[in-house]
Amino acid sequence: MELIIAKDYREMSHQAATQVAANIIVKPELVLGLATGSTPVGTYEELIKMRKKGMVDFSKVTTFNLDEYIGLGPKDEASYHHFMFHNLFSGINVKRENINLLNGLAKDPEAECRRYEKAIRKAGGIDLQIVGIGQNGHIGFNEPCDVFPTVTHIVDLSEETRRVNAKFFKDKKKVPTQAISVGIGTIMKAKEIILLANTKEKAEAITEAIEGPVRPQVPASVLQLHPKSVMMLTEQAAKGLKRIFDKSSKFSYIEKKVL
Ligand code: GLP
Repeated sequence: MELIIAKDYREMSHQAATQVAANIIVKPELVLGLATGSTPVGTYEELIKMRKKGMVDFSKVTTFNLDEYIGLGPKDEASYHHFMFHNLFSGINVKRENINLLNGLAKDPEAECRRYEKAIRKAGGIDLQIVGIGQNGHIGFNEPCDVFPTVTHIVDLSEETRRVNAKFFKDKKKVPTQAISVGIGTIMKAKEIILLANTKEKAEAITEAIEGPVRPQVPASVLQLHPKSVMMLTEQAAKGLKRIFDKSSKFSYIEKKVL
C-alpha cells in the first residue's frame, strides 16, 4: 500500500488526475473504474482541463462505474448515471458505447448484476480503479458486513450511508434503501486501485482502513492486501494515522510522499 498525502483537495485532485492521465498515455485502451460522491469531482474537473488542453485522449478508454441506486434512472439528478455525465463524461471524448453504467431501473436487478460482472470480465477486467470511502469505511456501496462480497450484488444501504448521502437529494426522504455495487472481489482484481479521501470526517475510516486489521466490517481495509493500492489523502483525512505521524513508529511498510 502506497500512501500519498497532499496538502489540500486541489493538490490531491491534481495528483489523482495526473495518475489517471499517465495510465491512459501508457495504455490508450485503458479500462478505468470510476467512483461517484463529492470526493472525485475535483479529479474529474482536472481530467476535463487536461482533455481540453489536448494532454489526454479518452477515445479508446472504457469506463465502468462502481455503483448505482436501485430505483433511480438517468433522468434523476441524484442518480450516479446523471452524476457521471454531468461531472465527467460530457467534458471528455470518451465514446458513449465505451461507458458502462449500472441500470438502477433494471426490472431484474439480479440479472443486471450478472450482466455487469460479465461485461467487466469481457473487457479484460479493470486496469485502474478509482474509489472513494464512506464515513463507515465502505467502498463503492460495499457496506460493513461479516464477509467481503465478491461480485456485483444488491446492497441494503445502512442508515448511516443514507443519512450522509442525503446531501445529494433535494427531498431527503427519497434516498433509496438499496443499490447495486461492484463487489470487493471484482474491485480487488483491478491492476491498480487509487482511494481518494479529503475531509476530516473520513479520518477515522482512513485510520481504521490503513492501520486496523483487514476485516469486512471496514471494507476499505481490504486494500491493504492489494499489491498496487494507493491511498491518496489530504492532510485532513490522514490526520489520525499514528504510524505516520508518530515518530517512534516502527512501521515502515507505508511510504510517505508529501506533495
Ligand atoms: C457514496 C458512493 C461511494 C463514495 C461515497 C463517499 O456512498 N457510493 O462510492 O465513495 O459516497 O462520498 P463523498 O465523496 O461524497 O464523501
